[in-house]
Amino acid sequence: MPQRTRTIPALFVILAAASCVGSMGQVGASSKGSSTNPFKDVAFFLNPAYTENVEATAKRHPDMADAIRKVAQQPTAVWLDRIAAVQNLKGWLDEAKKQQDTSGKPTLTVVVVYDLPNRDCSAEASAGELKVAENGLARYKSEFIDPIAAEFKAHPDQPIAVVLEPDSLANLATNMSIPMCQEARPVYKEGVVHAIKSFALPNVSVYLDAAHAGWLGWDDNRAKIGRIFKSVLNDAGGPGMIRGFAINIANYTHLSNRDGAVLEPTNPCPNELTYVKILRKTLEMYGFKDHGFIIDTSRNGKGNIRTKWGSWCNIKGAGLGERPRAEPEPGIDAYFWIKPPGESDGVADPKAPRYDPMCGGPDAAPGAPQAGQWFESYFLDLVRNAEPPL
Ligand code: BGC
Repeated sequence: MPQRTRTIPALFVILAAASCVGSMGQVGASSKGSSTNPFKDVAFFLNPAYTENVEATAKRHPDMADAIRKVAQQPTAVWLDRIAAVQNLKGWLDEAKKQQDTSGKPTLTVVVVYDLPNRDCSAEASAGELKVAENGLARYKSEFIDPIAAEFKAHPDQPIAVVLEPDSLANLATNMSIPMCQEARPVYKEGVVHAIKSFALPNVSVYLDAAHAGWLGWDDNRAKIGRIFKSVLNDAGGPGMIRGFAINIANYTHLSNRDGAVLEPTNPCPNELTYVKILRKTLEMYGFKDHGFIIDTSRNGKGNIRTKWGSWCNIKGAGLGERPRAEPEPGIDAYFWIKPPGESDGVADPKAPRYDPMCGGPDAAPGAPQAGQWFESYFLDLVRNAEPPL
């Protein structure tokens, strides 16, 4: 079972923070976002840059324009994937505030915080800029996390949800045979602790990434991540410092079908909703009670599309999943489109830098650009295969 021990990086980690907005312009004074669902009773930030990509695609494909334009109305997360991206944060939050002032409704921005040193220690396509051996941790704290926290503080009247460092702690649970992950171990932990403490603000709620069913669903892997979360939160000030956990980030695992039971019959969690149910019980044993979950449903509308559950790159046949919304099920804070649909998972050209064989494998769509770049033909397929349909 390769995904138990290696592979299956779900790709990215998201650090999401949310807040307790009582009334317009008033964010709960003391909460660190642990006690209320930040997705409830709010509007969601619409990222104009994403909308522009979608609109340009609609213009180039008039036959599908009606369906495509429905995607432009859906909120997506914004990704802080490198130090230079932090300069975009002010603009996003200012724009979200404008949307909030216009609608008269608190407007939540979901921010993925994703730049740990030695990222991604098991997936080349997501290789980042910082290295443990090159003072990466000090730079991560002072040039990345601290300026992000300062910007959050400068926008106290609007709610923010952070998805923190996709795939990082999951790699520590299952990929310790990889030297780059071994080297990353203390640094991932200290970096995540620093981020959690820095984002302990009244308007911010943090979700730790907890991979997906096909990575951590097995009993032993759930126990491993439980121990890691416990140790990280002990250092960060206790389980109440985070609102909850983010799963399926940039991955494709279906909410409810039995695809996983066929691909990996020994995994008790064949899909994401079962994973939430079972993982919640595991995490209770490690001190996490009443925590919320968010599930990335941007591309998990269709099941049964992979030959291996561990495939994670631009999966052929994928469709948009459930539309973002709060409390879709008891105990689930939200379905949300964390990975902006249409942005590539990784480059398909074997000669390109950051090429990962997963992105040229049998489950991957051909012709993909670098991770994060607009992959138009793939976006069109996501629209065609949307489930529920647009
Ligand atoms: C990439 C980021 C990108 C994000 C959202 C990640 O895989 O590394 O650069 O912003 O996906 O598309």
